[in-house]
Parts: sequence; C-alpha cells; structure tokens
Amino acid sequence: MTNNINWTEIRKDFPVLDNKVDGKQIYYLDNGASSQMPIQAIDRISNYLKYEHSNIHRGVHTLSQNATDSFEATRTLVKQHLNAATTDECIFTRGATEGINLVAFGYGDKFIKEGDEIIVSGMEHHSNIVPWQLLCKRVGASLKVVPMLDDGTLDFEAYQKLLNKKTKLVAIIHVSNALGTINPIKKFIDAAHSVNAVTVVDGCQAMAHMKIDVQDLDVDFYAISAHKTYGPTGLGVLYGKAELLNKMNPFLGGGDMIKSVTFEETLLADIPHKFEAGTPPILNVIGFGETLRYINKLGLENMAAREKELLIYATDRIEKMEGVNIIGPDVSQKTAIISMTVDGVHPHDIGTILDSRGVAIRTGHHCAQPIMNRFEIPATARASMAFYNMEFEIDMLVEALQEVQEIFS
Ligand code: ALA
Repeated sequence: MTNNINWTEIRKDFPVLDNKVDGKQIYYLDNGASSQMPIQAIDRISNYLKYEHSNIHRGVHTLSQNATDSFEATRTLVKQHLNAATTDECIFTRGATEGINLVAFGYGDKFIKEGDEIIVSGMEHHSNIVPWQLLCKRVGASLKVVPMLDDGTLDFEAYQKLLNKKTKLVAIIHVSNALGTINPIKKFIDAAHSVNAVTVVDGCQAMAHMKIDVQDLDVDFYAISAHKTYGPTGLGVLYGKAELLNKMNPFLGGGDMIKSVTFEETLLADIPHKFEAGTPPILNVIGFGETLRYINKLGLENMAAREKELLIYATDRIEKMEGVNIIGPDVSQKTAIISMTVDGVHPHDIGTILDSRGVAIRTGHHCAQPIMNRFEIPATARASMAFYNMEFEIDMLVEALQEVQEIFS
C-alpha cells in the first residue's frame, strides 16, 4: 500500500500483466520501451470504434461533431497535464520523433543558419540527435555535445562553456531512456535562454513519471509519446510556445491545415491545425484522453511514489549481486529504470535467458548508442518499472539473473 492505494487491485486494470505467453507467466519490466494501457482506455477505444467512429473537423453530421468533441477533449486534458497556457500550443503528432522533426524542419530550416551552433547532450535518444544532425547538414550549422560524467549525469559546467552567441538551439532529454537519469532541465533551459537559444526537450520518459509544467520550465518545445505514458502507439504531443509556433513553417502540407487553397496561394490554418495535416490518429487521441483521466484519478504523485518504492527495492536487491553492475546515477536522481551489465555475459544472452523465465526486459543500446560508447560497453540489460509492477516480479528478475550467472560461470 502506498498512500492507501491497493496496488494489487490496480493491477487488474492491466490484463496483459497476468497473461501467459506460450504457457509462461509474463513479468513485464519493459515499460521504458512501451507501457501498458489501462482497460478503461482500451474499452474507450473499442467503444469509439464500435459506435462513434467518424472523421473530425469535417462533418456537420452529429457523429462527426461528437468525434470532434471527444478528440478536442483530449487536447484540453493534455494542456492541463503539461500546464500549457492554451490548447493551441498542444499539437498531436504521430509520436515524439515526429514532434522533434517538426521543430527541426518547421523552426530549424527557417531560423537556423550557416555558422550557427546546436547543442545536444551525450545522453540523447537517437530521435533527439539525428534530426539535428540532418538539419546541420541542410543549413551548414554545427552540432556540439554536452559530455556525460561517470555517474551517468550531464556535465553542466561543460555545457555552460559550450554556450555562446552562436548557440541557436539546445535539445536535451528530460529523463534518459537508457539510464533513467532525471536531468535538471530547468537549469539547462535557463542557461540556454541566457544566450537567446531556443530549447527542445524530449520528455518521452518523463510524462508518465512526474508532473511536467511547461510554463514553469519556460521550455520552448516539449515532445512526448503517448505509448510511453500508458496510452496507444502512433501518437505523440508536441508542446510549443504559441509565439514560436505561429512564426514557424508548417511541417506537412495537406487537408485540415489550411484556411483556403488556390493554385496561386494557400492560406494556412491557425495553430494547432497548421501542424496537423491529414486525418489524425483519432482513435488513439480519444483513447489517450481516457488514459489521462485514469492518471488523474490515480494521482501522478501516487504513481511516482510507488515507482520509487519499486526502484529502491530492485536497486537494493541487484546491488547485492556480485558481478552485476548498474550503470547510471543513484536512486535519488533517476526514475524506475535499472540499466545493468553482468560480468562475462553479453546483454543479449541475458535478455534471452530472462525471456525463457518470462521476464521481459530490453537489451541493446536502447536507441542511445553514444551512451554505450561513453561507457565503453556494447549494450546494457534494462529493467524499467511502472507503478503496476510488484515486488514478486523484481524477485523473479533477480532469480533469473542468478541463473544467467550460473549458466555462464
Ligand atoms: N525508446 C524506447 C526505449 O527506450 C523504444 O526502449
């Protein structure tokens, strides 16, 4: 029990967790890759598909108007979750990757010029590296990298030295997907603003685990992914300050992002629609709305407290294992992610043996190869927990890791 919530009961909202695959009980510890959706959101999607489906923003008929209302209700919930100033600042995308690319093309191609500098951190997911590298190639800017310290945090002093009047954009991850490190992004954003650089934060691993307040952070762009926030795949949100979004180029052209079209000239729609060309993933947006209602009901702070309990329990158990090394900062500076190596065993072998016991973790470079290079390792085995996990699943992880060590001893 944390804050009088019966977490065993809560687990029933996630039927997959007690599912058997090939006759094996599953121990799902791969929430960093994708989290599970509560049954309330799954039912909402099913109901929408059965009885409510229609295109949005286009029909005068009731079904279309109702679908539009449900779709836009999610935007209001997103605005509340991020504490954006207006719903217009919350753009639905196909994922966080698309959100970051939208900024790279819509803002970058218009405002970043030859000789300018873009700063990323050494802890970024590939989706917050590659779009900036491509932009640099297109416009002739250069990419600078904030190094990581041995404890898996960013070197803030080195970052300050990189900042100068040529710095036009800083792109940084809020919570490392590979290590769980929570970066003090407000400090990074303030420093970027001191040289008038625009800030882009990858919040994929943050929104499910902590309160985000974009106004307090004063961040310019903040990208999230629904499927890492207990919602469906194929959906993300890009928050952007209205003053920036208004002056940016559109990313994709098509229906619903225009006021009028002739062969001579197209007048663009206002934000957020200017950035939402084509029929959006309506059912995902409506399903995600239900996820956000679920989070509101359970309380993000309760979920975070439960995850901290699990992280402390797992860290304590794994730290006691000789030959198992945790990469990344201590529990006070991270979310419920344990990235580890086992002496003498390749992480892929760990993953395969764990899978034979039903334990689902991710092994590999976690789409963050520069982190692996920094620590001179090929990959890690990453257990990522969510509020619906239980101690018995961590016990099974430890038991399976012991088996790995026995097999390779
Ligand atoms: N970016 C996802 C992960 O960390 C897929 O596993």
